[in-house]
Amino acid sequence: MRVNHSGEVSAQGLYQGQALTARLPDVREKMEQAAIEENDHLVWCEQRLNDLGAHKSLLNPVWYTGSFLIGATAGLLGDKWSLGFVAETEHQVVRHLDKHLNSITEDDQRSRAILQQMKVDEAKHATTALHYGGAELPVPVKKLMALMSKVMTRTAYRI
Ligand SMILES: [Fe+2]
Ligand SMILES: [Fe+2]
Repeated sequence: MRVNHSGEVSAQGLYQGQALTARLPDVREKMEQAAIEENDHLVWCEQRLNDLGAHKSLLNPVWYTGSFLIGATAGLLGDKWSLGFVAETEHQVVRHLDKHLNSITEDDQRSRAILQQMKVDEAKHATTALHYGGAELPVPVKKLMALMSKVMTRTAYRI
């Protein structure tokens, strides 16, 4: 759950960075709705971490700042790319959540319920971003993003 929480901290950074620089004339409202749902995710993960008596990642400020800069940069590249970036990020998050759901025990119903709802929301964010003109990112960019999230998940798991 610490990894998921850090992921949601990063989602805050991404959406806020993007909101700062992206024009998004037609979709601003939709993106703000997504950002509100990301805030719910953050709260759920934090509560669950507390219930489990686990600590948050000490590197959360780093994840936040990095994601904010990436979101702001994506926003500067134009809506097509910044929405494409959101879509790809959310697709990768859905794959991560799937893997995580497969690896946690059936007994942990509370964590599962949170992850299931997050998965539904993240998939919807991806669909919305594509629907409003998000471009398919080049494969090397997708690979780089996957690599970065791997580093992040491994690190947040420990620290
Ligand atoms: Fe989320
Ligand atoms: Fe999302």
